[in-house]
Amino acid sequence: MGTVTAAISVSAAAAAVSRSRRAGRRRHRGPGVFSCSVSTAGERQALFSRIAPVYDHLNDVLSLGQHRTWKRICVSWSRAKMGDRVLDLCCGSGDLAFLLSQKVGLDGEVMAVDFSRQQLQTAADRQEQRWKLCYENIKWIEGDALDLPFTDCYFDAVTVGYGLRNVVDKSRAMQEIFRVLKPGSRASILDFNKSSSLFTASLQSWAIDNVVVPLASGYGLTEEYKYLKSSISQYATGEELEKLAREAGFTVAKHYELGGGIMGNLVATR
Ligand SMILES: C[S@@+](CC[C@H](N)C(=O)[O-])C[C@H]1O[C@@H](n2cnc3c(N)ncnc32)[C@H](O)[C@@H]1O
Repeated sequence: MGTVTAAISVSAAAAAVSRSRRAGRRRHRGPGVFSCSVSTAGERQALFSRIAPVYDHLNDVLSLGQHRTWKRICVSWSRAKMGDRVLDLCCGSGDLAFLLSQKVGLDGEVMAVDFSRQQLQTAADRQEQRWKLCYENIKWIEGDALDLPFTDCYFDAVTVGYGLRNVVDKSRAMQEIFRVLKPGSRASILDFNKSSSLFTASLQSWAIDNVVVPLASGYGLTEEYKYLKSSISQYATGEELEKLAREAGFTVAKHYELGGGIMGNLVATR
């Protein structure tokens, strides 16, 4: 239990953020010139590794705990059930994987995939800290959403929480999700909603500038959380997500707004 391929250890949160920020600086521009450019997969991987030590804490603070409700909805809409083999893609520190684990039980299997080793190590540590027998069914796998290490028609359900927005090629990721799902089964994809309502979009943008970024700054993660705003603006609207899913081959695709339109969840059936 609690193992990740080539795991690294993550100790005190602040120290780890500071270390990974220093590494990030070196990776991007050299000492003293930090630029949080996050257009390539490698840059996004580095970003999520830097925020790993405080990611869960910030999620709780920034959403006032609401992210837990949205994640429960996402898992519930995947229709995962006892005995199923399921995939949680872009699993991060494992919130959705832990929920799926309880849904599918010890006769089922949860494959939790992410390309950030630090996020996976946080997930594995949490698995050990909050031990439950059913969590034995989770495997933490270092892998790329654009090239999944599974055969066709392998899973009974797939969940993605706040992951698709961060993948550089969303169309390719959707095709991979379609490929690994069994016919008739579902993908449930939760993320920020790129709202077409001016009011909701303005509120979301105001909250990021005036709440999210200032709070993240307290952890030395200003640039990292500024990326959130640009990633939402470059993301797809609900309608565009439905189209993306249909183009990948899904027969039914419906996007639902959550949290007053701030969040959205796409449900796609193969
Ligand atoms: C915002 S976090 C979401 C984590 C978790 N699902 C949650 O809801 O809390 C996005 C995750 O997607 C992962 N990710 C982004 N692009 C990826 C890719 N191409 N392959 C695998 N993981 C990826 C990042 O490493 C990060 O852990």
